[in-house]
Amino acid sequence: MWYEQGREHVWLPYTQMKRAPLALPAVATNGTRITLSDGRELVDGIASWWTACHGYNHPHITKALETQLHTMPHVMLGGFNHEPAMTLAQRLSKLLPGDLNHVFFADSGSVAVEVALKMALQYWINTGENGRDRFVSFNFGYHGDTIGAMSVCDPDEGMHSLFKGILPQQFIVDLPRTKEEFIEFESFLKSKKNEIAGVIIEPLVQGAGGMKFHDSETLAAIYNIAKKHNVLFIADEIMTGFGRTGTMFACNQAEITPDIMCIGKALTGGAMTLAATVASEEVYQAFYADTYKAALMHGPTYMANPLACAAANASLDLFEQEPRLAQGAALQSLLADALEPCRALPGVVDVRAKGAIGVVQVERLRKVSWLAERFLEQGVWIQPYGDIFYLTPAFTIDDADFSTLTDSLCRTMADWSRL
Ligand SMILES: Cc1ncc(COP(=O)(O)O)c(C=O)c1O
Repeated sequence: MWYEQGREHVWLPYTQMKRAPLALPAVATNGTRITLSDGRELVDGIASWWTACHGYNHPHITKALETQLHTMPHVMLGGFNHEPAMTLAQRLSKLLPGDLNHVFFADSGSVAVEVALKMALQYWINTGENGRDRFVSFNFGYHGDTIGAMSVCDPDEGMHSLFKGILPQQFIVDLPRTKEEFIEFESFLKSKKNEIAGVIIEPLVQGAGGMKFHDSETLAAIYNIAKKHNVLFIADEIMTGFGRTGTMFACNQAEITPDIMCIGKALTGGAMTLAATVASEEVYQAFYADTYKAALMHGPTYMANPLACAAANASLDLFEQEPRLAQGAALQSLLADALEPCRALPGVVDVRAKGAIGVVQVERLRKVSWLAERFLEQGVWIQPYGDIFYLTPAFTIDDADFSTLTDSLCRTMADWSRL
C-alpha cells in the first residue's frame, strides 16, 4: 500500500522516472543483506554506495544511536557545541594525516566539497592573493552533484555534461601518469598558478567516474607539484576514506597531508548522513583573525547533527576494536582472484581490484534491465553503470555471501557476454 501510494511522489536519483523499472521495495537491512517487502533477501554488493563498511545495523552503532536519540537528537551548532561533535572532531584530527586538525561538519559529501572549494577560494582572498579563483581537476573525476562540485567533475564523460558551459569554468585535465605527462602537467600548473586556487582529486580511485585507479606514486607526484607551485591540494576522500582502498585513508599510501580533505559516506558506518571538510593548520590560520570578514561564511542547518556524530564515533570505535581495516584490505586479493575468470569473456576490457573494490570493465554496457533481473533472481544487489560491473561490499562480508556475490557476477557476465 505505501509503495503503490508513495511511488509517484518520490523522485528517484539518476532516474528517468517515465521509463525506469520500479525501484525495489526495501523494508529492512541486516549485516550484508537487504530484505524486500515480499520477504526476499539480497546480498548487497555495493554497501549502499560504499557507506556500510561494518555491514548494516551493527549493534554497536545502533546502541550509540539509541542512547543519543534519548538525550539530544539534534541541536543547532550555531551558538552551541556538543560532546559527540567535539569528541569526533578530536578523534578525526588524530586519525587524519599530519595537521588536518580543523573539522567543519556538513550533511552530505557534495556540501563538503562545496565547502572545500569555498574554503580554498577564501584562503586566497584572506591571504591577499586576488584572482586565484579556478580549480584544477581531472577527467573521469566525480565530486558530487551541487553546482560547485559539478564544475570540477568530468565535463564530458560524467553525468553533468548537460550543464557544460553554465557551470563555473575550471581547468579539467587528464590525470598525468607518464613522465612526459607530468612535465606537461607541471608546466601547465606553473603557467596558470596565479589563477589557480587549488587542485582537487579523488586519491587513488576515481570512483563514480568508472572506478579508475592510479598508484600512490602518481598521487604523491601530483601533490608535490601542487606544493612546489604553492597551489592548495584538496583530497576528496568521500569515497576512498575509512578503509575502502585498504588503508584508513588513500592519502596514507602516498604519505601526503593535503591542505584540505573531504570525508563522508562511511564516516558513520553507513547509518546516518554526515560529511566533513577538514583543514590543515595553515588553511585554518588564514581564517583565524580579528576581523569577522575573514570568517568562513557557511553553516548547514543540521551540521554536526549529534545523532550522526554519535554514529561516527561508534564507527571509529569499531575500526579500533575490530580488525576492520585488515578485513577491508584482505578483500583486494579475494576480489581480484574471484573476478579474474571474467577477463576471458568477450567484451571485457579489464579486471582490477584495489582494497575492497573489485571491478570488471567492459567495452559497452548493454541489456541493463536483463542484467538487473538476473541479479535479482540470484538474490544479489549488483548495479552496473557506465562501463563497469563492480563490487564494494561491507568489509565484514562472510565467505558464503562473498561467494554468492562473485559467483553470481561471473555467471551472469558469462551469460550476458553471449547475448
Ligand atoms: C568522491 C566523491 N565526492 C563527493 C561525492 C558526493 O557525496 P554525496 O553523494 O554524499 O553528496 C561522492 C559520492 O559518490 C563521491 O564519491
